[in-house]
Amino acid sequence: MSQNLLTVAYIAASALFILSLGGLSNQETARRGNLFGISGMLIAFVATALSPNVSAYGTLVAVILPGAIIGAIVASRVAMTSMPELVAILHSFVGMAAVLVGIANYLQAEQSLTGVEVTIHQLEIFIGVFIGAITFTGSVVAFGKLRAIISSKPLTLPARHLLNLAMLGGSVWLGYQFMGLEAPSGLQPLLIMTAIASVLGIHLVAAIGGADMPVVISMLNSYSGWAAAAAGFMLSNDLLIITGALVGSSGAILSYIMCNAMNRSFISVILGGFGEGAGASAAPSSTQPAGEATSTTVEEAVELLQDAKSVIIVPGYGMAVAQAQHPVSDITKSLRQKGVEVRFGIHPVAGRLPGHMNVLLAEANVPYDIVLEMDEINEDFPKTDLVLVIGANDTVNPSAMEDPGSPIAGMPVLEVWKATNVIVMKRSLSSGYAGVDNPLFYKENTKMLFGDAKKNVTAILGQLVESDRKGGGKAHTTEKVLVSSSAR
Ligand code: TAP
Repeated sequence: MSQNLLTVAYIAASALFILSLGGLSNQETARRGNLFGISGMLIAFVATALSPNVSAYGTLVAVILPGAIIGAIVASRVAMTSMPELVAILHSFVGMAAVLVGIANYLQAEQSLTGVEVTIHQLEIFIGVFIGAITFTGSVVAFGKLRAIISSKPLTLPARHLLNLAMLGGSVWLGYQFMGLEAPSGLQPLLIMTAIASVLGIHLVAAIGGADMPVVISMLNSYSGWAAAAAGFMLSNDLLIITGALVGSSGAILSYIMCNAMNRSFISVILGGFGEGAGASAAPSSTQPAGEATSTTVEEAVELLQDAKSVIIVPGYGMAVAQAQHPVSDITKSLRQKGVEVRFGIHPVAGRLPGHMNVLLAEANVPYDIVLEMDEINEDFPKTDLVLVIGANDTVNPSAMEDPGSPIAGMPVLEVWKATNVIVMKRSLSSGYAGVDNPLFYKENTKMLFGDAKKNVTAILGQLVESDRKGGGKAHTTEKVLVSSSAR
């Protein structure tokens, strides 16, 4: 393929990547956005393979074929709830690739470069390897934490910020040593810096508490983009630079949005200094919820649904675990047919990855226009007859607003308790991801429908259909349960 054709192909691929990002910003256009991304990647791949730089096709096929097969198998098997782990480990590959490309690029220096070009090229290599090493080890630790192989508690070494600063300073000094050294003499400072950056990556992510992991994943996504952009500079590949910059900047914007949604300071999360109070096994909040939680039955839930004119459904991680989205969609359909106003309230960090709930609801064909973001629906709870909380916990926890001592204090939440009635579906009174007790369960207007979300939602759907068939027929059962911490 001629250089001109290659340039045209790269421009087309870049445009498709930008269109892809645009499409992914909205549920209705997300599928199209994905198709743009796939097409862009296909063009990029074929054009690069046919470019004048590539000649070892045997090696290319030997490397790509097993990679593509493994990738396809893993991606098709992964459960939605394990997606963040997969994303984390994939980020680690990008980091590792940037390190390897950087070292290889240094050892096989381009002869055509002269003067300041050599300096710039060496700088690209050094920075690329630095970011790549941090991304690699940081992503491996994030994977370990999400998989619960490593404790999600933040590692808080004494003088940890000084330690980070020392590692950064050491890397800068090694960079100074590295500059101007021809291969292979500069290999030593380059490899020592790689080792230091690897430790820095481990330390940075190990210091971040479990509840801040969503931000860490999107931050590592951003790092992996910058690592790819750096590799693009090293290889003088414009498309890799553009793609890396797109991933890097969109990941950074996503991290910022998620920090806002969780009321976390972006810088604090990155430095791992302020997440310790919010670990997955965080200390209990200053005011333990006390009192009685009221349990309810499927029959009573059906009765409340039949009496309601307006219903808001708030899904969370538990709905994803139970895979309850399809019967939830059917309940929505059935209620809407009877003229009940049904809407969904989605918290930005509900579930375990950005947009988790939106994807599940779209998969179950819930109309997009009734799926609203937290900010769009929060004011409507006081005017709502019934809220069904399905497997959500942290995202509906009033202590975020009412208890300044809570590890999630200040995090914006869906104010479900302001509705006339609330039914919470979960299996027990245990805490959610952030490890914080939830006073919602003990409010006067809250009823707990214990059990697996899919089982209960399916039972509700069955009774709704049955009662429609019979033209009515309600049952009413309420049972008080005494709840103590030991019972959880
Ligand atoms: P969580 O606070 O994690 O609560 C989910 C609840 O679902 C649990 O308390 C659990 O209670 C219940 N559950 C689990 N399996 C269930 C089943 N089969 N049937 C019924 N209930 C079930 O969920 P959330 O409200 O969606 O909040 C998300 C949390 O995850 C936030 O803290 C967020 O920061 C964090 N996080 C988010 C992301 C992103 S990007 N969204 C990524 C990582 C972490 P029982 O055990 O009592 O059933």
